[in-house]
Amino acid sequence: MKALIVYFTTLGKTKKTAEAIGQSLKNYQVDYFGFELTGVFGQKVGIIGQLEKGDFSSMSEDLLKLEQMDQDYDLFVFGMPTYGNKPPGVYKEIIKRVNIQGKPVAYFGTCAGNGWVTMDQVTAAIEEAGGNLIDKIRLRGFFKPKLKKAALFGKSINTALAN
Ligand SMILES: Cc1cc2nc3c(=O)[nH]c(=O)nc-3n(C[C@H](O)[C@H](O)[C@H](O)COP(=O)(O)O)c2cc1C
Repeated sequence: MKALIVYFTTLGKTKKTAEAIGQSLKNYQVDYFGFELTGVFGQKVGIIGQLEKGDFSSMSEDLLKLEQMDQDYDLFVFGMPTYGNKPPGVYKEIIKRVNIQGKPVAYFGTCAGNGWVTMDQVTAAIEEAGGNLIDKIRLRGFFKPKLKKAALFGKSINTALAN
């Protein structure tokens, strides 16, 4: 079986978390699709601001690539961080580009503080896109990503779908 993990990352924590989950999906061949901001911190924060205003021009190539890729997967996992108490402004657009209709979907959110608004908004977007949300987790870590919890989350999805 095949799984696709789609994540957004600025500082790399969501990427590392995605990899920890992917490594635990033992029944799957796992592919990754990352929206990764580059540049110095100030530039990255500038892009986060643009996305919040609905300007996705910095992501248009990646969005198209995602939409046009072969999406023949048995499981989709989304990873979204929290910036300014919400997900990156492009989150809905990312989810819309993946054909999750009727497919099992898992979601993890990374944050340093609250992060619940992100959890709610991303959940709503997955449901709106017709995904079958099987599990989700908020991974809160101030300095480091919560990789052990992430690995357990991956293991639990792997087991749940094997039954
Ligand atoms: C610009 C910026 C804003 C952030 N705002 C919040 C916030 O409002 N609430 C929160 O819980 N964490 C916040 N964080 C922390 C991130 O959610 C957390 O570090 C996350 O794991 C970062 O993921 P990344 O390393 O993949 O970019 C913020 C981080 C950045 C860089």
